[in-house]
Amino acid sequence: MKKAIYPGSFDPPTLGHLDIIKRAASVCDELTVSILNNIEKKPLFSVEERVKMLEEATKDIPNIKIDSFSGLLVDYARENDIHVAIRGLRAITDFEYELQVAQTNRILSKEQLDTMFLITSLEYSYLSSSGVKEMARFGGDISMCVPEFIMDMVYQKYGIDKSKVK
Ligand code: PNS
Repeated sequence: MKKAIYPGSFDPPTLGHLDIIKRAASVCDELTVSILNNIEKKPLFSVEERVKMLEEATKDIPNIKIDSFSGLLVDYARENDIHVAIRGLRAITDFEYELQVAQTNRILSKEQLDTMFLITSLEYSYLSSSGVKEMARFGGDISMCVPEFIMDMVYQKYGIDKSKVK
């Protein structure tokens, strides 16, 4: 069975993440989407909220597992017998960071974890979770960035009245 992991912060999951999830799930037997529980960051959504968001957004994809992890990705992958990590590449600016992380993971795992990149679909290449949060905080329209139920949850966090969004 070919297993893969798509790790990330997903704070919140965007349509770009969901595009990568659908495409990755179509080329492996089981895709684990795992949320990094990063104690150094102060996320907008708790890990539990992000798990629920991803479960709801991927409920129609049969071969998906949603989970969370802390610590090193290579340790989590080894414990779950996963040897392929999936990451999305939006632009050349992502490349340097992703290259470094992928090389680190390959070395740290003694070549047991390799990374495969999917190029983000053109319509989502500008999207990022941090951009979504910044737009939402100041009352910008994020309806083209996230599923509707996630949009409602983001506006709620910032106390934004959805009917007043420009
Ligand atoms: O969505 P993000 O924030 O770009 O995801 C980054 C993530 C979670 C994939 C990356 O930070 C990660 O795997 N962190 C876990 C810690 C780790 O394994 N670090 C070693 C590689 S530098």
